Amino acid sequence: MNILGISGSLRKFSRNTALLREAVRLFGPSTPIYADLNLPLYNGDLEDRIGLPDAVKTLNAQILAADAIIIATPEYNKMIPGVLKNALDWISRDNPQPLVGKPVAIMSTGGRFGGEVSQFTLRHALAPFNTNILQGAAFAVANGASAFDENEQLVLPLHAAALTALMARLRTEAQRQ
Ligand SMILES: Cc1cc2nc3c(=O)[nH]c(=O)nc-3n(C[C@H](O)[C@H](O)[C@H](O)COP(=O)(O)O)c2cc1C
Repeated sequence: MNILGISGSLRKFSRNTALLREAVRLFGPSTPIYADLNLPLYNGDLEDRIGLPDAVKTLNAQILAADAIIIATPEYNKMIPGVLKNALDWISRDNPQPLVGKPVAIMSTGGRFGGEVSQFTLRHALAPFNTNILQGAAFAVANGASAFDENEQLVLPLHAAALTALMARLRTEAQRQ
């Protein structure tokens, strides 16, 4: 199984990137790749000049090759971060659309509410892409700064159990493709 992990945070010590790695671990046997969203800002003039930047072509090829996608996003001012929206805008400029039908699990970690609101805005942002997003209760890890141990694994068994269940559902969807 090819898994593509997409973190909405570019920060080296991002808790969402840690959550992504933990999700991949709990997914079980797979070949994971982590997307690099450090892309130029979408600009129609740039697109007219060079077409899709190489980094976007790489990202879209990774999406196409993925059996399943996991997106972990922080919440910035009650929304997904600009880096994630910018990536989606670039992705949308390709033909065929690489995200169509892809099984996607979304999650977040952040402050007191775990960035749960950002997940609703991510679902909204993904709507035009016709992905196969897993539905159900949001998986949001509150107080991300203290939610992981020194091995970057989730401290609370409750979190690990919920994420394991979500990853089992993602595997089932990936196998159905
Ligand atoms: C610009 C900015 C806006 C933020 N807005 C929110 C917010 O609306 N709600 C929230 O729960 N946390 C908010 N936070 C806190 C982030 O969710 C928190 O720092 C998170 O851990 C960042 O994710 P990362 O560790 O993956 O980089 C904000 C942080 C930044 C930098």
